[in-house]
Amino acid sequence: MLVDRIEAKWIRAFERTFELCAVKQGDPIAILSETQSRQINVHLAELALLSLGARPFHLILPTPPQTVPVPLRSTGSSDAIRQLRPVMRALCSAAMVVDITVEGLMHAPETREILEAGSRVLYISNEHPELLERCVPDPALKSRMKKYLDILRGARTMRVTSGAGTDLTVDIEGAPAGGGWGACDEPGTLDHWPGGVVICYPKAGSTNGVVVLDRGDLNLTFKRYLDAPVELEIKDDYAVGVHGTGVDAELMRSYFAVWQDRNAYATSHVGFGINPNARWDALALYDKGEINGTEQRAYAGNFLYSTGANEFAGRFTLGHFDLPVRGCTIELDGKTVIDRGVLVDV
Ligand SMILES: [Fe+2]
Repeated sequence: MLVDRIEAKWIRAFERTFELCAVKQGDPIAILSETQSRQINVHLAELALLSLGARPFHLILPTPPQTVPVPLRSTGSSDAIRQLRPVMRALCSAAMVVDITVEGLMHAPETREILEAGSRVLYISNEHPELLERCVPDPALKSRMKKYLDILRGARTMRVTSGAGTDLTVDIEGAPAGGGWGACDEPGTLDHWPGGVVICYPKAGSTNGVVVLDRGDLNLTFKRYLDAPVELEIKDDYAVGVHGTGVDAELMRSYFAVWQDRNAYATSHVGFGINPNARWDALALYDKGEINGTEQRAYAGNFLYSTGANEFAGRFTLGHFDLPVRGCTIELDGKTVIDRGVLVDV
């Protein structure tokens, strides 16, 4: 069992990450949290920023009421700010925002304004600090991430195959793409810790084929390893069939259906993990309340297939699955970046 107490080693881990975010003495840094945030991370952020000589200040919002009948998980889209102008003014004028909201600002409606104002955002994923300690960003990952991102941005077609039966073709020409390595050191950028994911948002009508989630693959909305396969039959972006006889297939069909919205079944983002320090197996070693699953989005060699909102395809929905798949080969215009689940050095 992990105990939530301040440990010197965790202050150091936060300091190291903030140093990699280029936090300087005297910088005004907003620590954005909500009442349901993991308090130990809020405290660690404050102590580490003070130790670096920065001038942190807290913005704490009440966690908003639930608007849907099921628990929302893994949306990456915090609704804590809800356009509150005094909060936005503070965030826009900070040198950096340390985002400790539960879901994070990655896809929040206010994020663009904060970045365009010249601030930068580091989302500290809702993980226990022991996990963050293991996944302190590695500066070497930044240049590697840019190489993979360049290949992804320049490619027209992503092809994904696996021995389990995945055979997917995605037209990614012109698809907005992004990547992270775990720290944000440039104005106007957002990253998340743990980092190490490269993804793009395919435009409408671009994704066709089959994604087979095999035994041991993950559904990070449920934070479960599958113990029986689920086959997603995808036609023009939409999962038109969710096949499988196991509990995971039933859970997915149930959670898809709750939205009563066809867009919940559609492709959100496609990409892959590049972080060698992130681990597929680590989720088995924590209680669900201790983790958010970001490490498993980032572990090197996974194909990350996601369903739900994709603003670049004109689709909005709250239902979101992030599904890291093992054992896949990913080719970008014929160039292999993942070979049977192993990240290829490019
Ligand atoms: Fe996602």
